[in-house]
Amino acid sequence: MFLTMTTPHTIAIDGPAASGKSTLGKLLADHFGYIYFDTGVLYRALTYVALEQAVDLANAAALAKLAQTSNFEVLAPSVADGRQYTVLANGNDITWPLRAANVERNVSQVAAHPAVREALRDTQRQIGKAGHVVMAGRDIGAVIMPDAQLKIYLDASVEERAQRRAQELNARGRAISYNEVLADLTRRDAIDAANTFLAADAITITTDGRSPEDVFQAIVNLMGVEAQA
Ligand code: DC
Repeated sequence: MFLTMTTPHTIAIDGPAASGKSTLGKLLADHFGYIYFDTGVLYRALTYVALEQAVDLANAAALAKLAQTSNFEVLAPSVADGRQYTVLANGNDITWPLRAANVERNVSQVAAHPAVREALRDTQRQIGKAGHVVMAGRDIGAVIMPDAQLKIYLDASVEERAQRRAQELNARGRAISYNEVLADLTRRDAIDAANTFLAADAITITTDGRSPEDVFQAIVNLMGVEAQA
């Protein structure tokens, strides 16, 4: 007889930029019929609005206030243009601007402020508490949802991540070289490290040379094996 593990209500996926969180998260969410929530979107949306309103990115209090007074919505895709979801900031569709160079360059600095993290914490926890969610980020398993039933930490070398990100950006029409992406990821890793946590009860998976489907299958298999033990 084959016992399956009780379906986890919340799945946390943490790991550095371009480690494959989004693709895996979407595969797991589709598999379980859950929603996929990429928490990096909140930090990116705040950065976008702060840049638009010329808020000083070193001013933690002003950024936290902006987080409290802004209305961010993450909805099902409203346009079939390759997006995984639609993001609105105060009613405006900012799904693609969130991936633009000016946001990419500044988001780590914004996310590093403890006051900003605190301002965005409750929103993330409310979504987590509702259950049936796969949530991706840096501190989900350790800080936001320590009770998540399944925690995955995805890792990959910075070279592999830079290669993937460069390919992704080039495919979207942004002319950026591998070396530029590598330098940017290395810089962002150093800032993000302070708020990137490997939860004690997380399963760590290194994704170098592995496709998202392969990693997805490994997790599904692992869940079956754990249930049999
Ligand atoms: O995953 P991403 O590249 O979209 O994340 C954007 C930024 O937000 C990145 O600098 C890390 C930060 N972030 C964070 O500090 N905590 C999270 N839970 C998610 C993202």
